[in-house]
Amino acid sequence: MSRHALITGAGTGIGAAISRQLHSDGCSLSLMGRRLEPLEALAEQLGHSCRVITGDVTDRESVESAFIQASESFGHVEILINCAGIAPTAPFHRIEFSDWQNTMDVNLNGVFHCTQVALGNMKIAGWGRIVTIASTASLKGFPYVSGYCASKHAALGLTRALALETAQQGITVNAVCPGYVDTDIVREAIQEIMTKTGRSEAEALQHFTESNPQGRLIEATEVAASVSWLCSDSAASVTGQAIAIDGGSTA
Ligand SMILES: NC(=O)c1ccc[n+]([C@@H]2O[C@H](COP(=O)([O-])OP(=O)(O)OC[C@H]3O[C@@H](n4cnc5c(N)ncnc54)[C@H](OP(=O)(O)O)[C@@H]3O)[C@@H](O)[C@H]2O)c1
Repeated sequence: MSRHALITGAGTGIGAAISRQLHSDGCSLSLMGRRLEPLEALAEQLGHSCRVITGDVTDRESVESAFIQASESFGHVEILINCAGIAPTAPFHRIEFSDWQNTMDVNLNGVFHCTQVALGNMKIAGWGRIVTIASTASLKGFPYVSGYCASKHAALGLTRALALETAQQGITVNAVCPGYVDTDIVREAIQEIMTKTGRSEAEALQHFTESNPQGRLIEATEVAASVSWLCSDSAASVTGQAIAIDGGSTA
């Protein structure tokens, strides 16, 4: 698959795993995020066909500039992976509106900006793939992450509606919905639980694994493999879907 993919949140965690997978699939990559260092480190590991672009998905001008830079290197973006996201935790009654708004800005409005900017050239080309890294929090509620759940439910709603709008245009629009993935964020949360509660690592880990019927964390490479398939020509009829990568927790 020799396509041009732009991945937001590419430098770390799931975004880095998707970038590695799509690179090994033969794609040219535009790696986007706010911090230069993780993006450059990843590009150095991958070695060729990578462009590093710093940008903020909440800022329309920044997104437009990122797509211009990307197209200067590899032509128009054929695959968009919306992976940038944040997951603040707090009981609902303690959430400041500015924090709520920021969660919506990154997890929902960022998807809006990137998707809208990407779509024009995909329509002209008659081919495109848009995959949003949503969450099992797009499919069900979780306590103490109401802003995250609301934003991820909304991102899935956007995915479903846009899939119908683009169904005749060679473009597919899908969401991948992972459960807890073994990334730095989850490992740091395990450390925090251990520090705050005095629980052992195994006990803290259980907090994240008990909701998964397979009793484990998901690997970022498992998420990346599903994204790779959704971006392939063989998944041309798969659109408007929420693919749960969750060990059966939403079954
Ligand atoms: N880990 C899990 O268990 C899990 C489960 C389900 C879904 N997800 C979703 O998977 C995605 C990736 O999460 P992750 O676990 O890999 O966490 P992560 O390592 O923190 O990745 C988030 C990425 O988003 C980027 N980002 C944040 N705000 C941004 C902004 N305003 N503009 C551009 N980039 C921004 C960050 O880079 P900069 O800070 O450099 O910008 C970072 O690279 C998120 O959408 C998350 O909701 C994660």
